[in-house]
Amino acid sequence: MTTRRLGATDLLVSPLGLGLAALGRPGYINLGHAADLNHNYDIEMMEQHTHQLLDAAWAQGVRYFDVARSYGRAEPFLGSWLKSRRISPNTVTIGSKWGYTYTANWQVEADKHEIKDHSLPVLQRQWQESQANLNSFLNIYQIHSATLDSGVLENEPVLLALARLKQFGIAIGLSLSGPQQGEVLKRAMDIEIDGQRLFDTVQATWNVLEPSAGSTLQLAADQGLGVIVKEALANGRLTSRNDNPAFAAKRAVLETQARRLETTIDALALAAVLAQPWVGVVLSGAATIDQLTANLKALHVAWDDQAAAALAALVEPPEVYWQTRSALDWN
Ligand SMILES: NC(=O)c1ccc[n+]([C@@H]2O[C@H](COP(=O)([O-])OP(=O)(O)OC[C@H]3O[C@@H](n4cnc5c(N)ncnc54)[C@H](OP(=O)(O)O)[C@@H]3O)[C@@H](O)[C@H]2O)c1
Repeated sequence: MTTRRLGATDLLVSPLGLGLAALGRPGYINLGHAADLNHNYDIEMMEQHTHQLLDAAWAQGVRYFDVARSYGRAEPFLGSWLKSRRISPNTVTIGSKWGYTYTANWQVEADKHEIKDHSLPVLQRQWQESQANLNSFLNIYQIHSATLDSGVLENEPVLLALARLKQFGIAIGLSLSGPQQGEVLKRAMDIEIDGQRLFDTVQATWNVLEPSAGSTLQLAADQGLGVIVKEALANGRLTSRNDNPAFAAKRAVLETQARRLETTIDALALAAVLAQPWVGVVLSGAATIDQLTANLKALHVAWDDQAAAALAALVEPPEVYWQTRSALDWN
């Protein structure tokens, strides 16, 4: 995989990156998470499993990795891998996020898996924690799931603290979630500190079921923001694992196109994202090496207008998509 610059930053990324949300903790919402981890939550085993996935991704050219403070031990697992493999900081790009605190206590089921708090004290604490785990490897620090109602985009002390990090060479980003991704992004793009735009990158959900943020992501890319796409497989709903009868008609469309293009559903859905002109890097959320290998085949899918037209019929109203997502079971 060749690397390219992420937006107007100097950071080099591979077109496909790897997110560690499914690897750093026992519980997650992706459909078959417990099965992927073989129900084995021993910390050392999980660290080894994560390292094996990172080795496989590195060998296949993946050069962007995404973590967050709330992904259990994802940051320390990534940090120990970078150190043990003697990776040089200028050969890889790493993004993390602050704003959610992990509270599941290494359990699959918990009353609360993570607590959202976008206040200055949380930024200050989590920045220190991220630094301890990733130090000079950390390139992008993102507000985790910024929303209009969290008030974070109006919180001047937080915005000034982020601007200070930017002065030290950290790219500042935000991730988005929910049906108002486009609105939040437009608000974020207007934020300037001392005449300079604050945000360098945006991480958003875009997939063939929920493409509603696409036009605003194009605007963001036009203005030089690096665009990182997450949940390209709708948390596993756009894979062969999704045998929900209510999805059968959509799955048939995906299978027809996948067969025609001699690929799998997951690679087809990722290829749909890679085909967007505004994309900087698309995250694979693979939890096993087999999934990663299948996901990376997206780079070789001969995406065409026929596939684009067929998959356009799969779009869900954003409210329906996000309701379905919030009903996914932690497992
Ligand atoms: N708000 C935020 O900032 C935010 C939110 C979400 C994600 N993210 C980032 O985005 C990354 C990707 O998100 P995601 O994990 O939700 O991504 P996703 O790509 O939508 O889903 C990944 C899941 O799809 C399934 N899968 C992938 N390939 C498969 C295959 N070949 N066969 C069967 N199943 C397959 C696996 O789930 P199962 O095997 O469990 O079914 C895998 O965990 C995360 O790791 C994280 O870094 C950020």
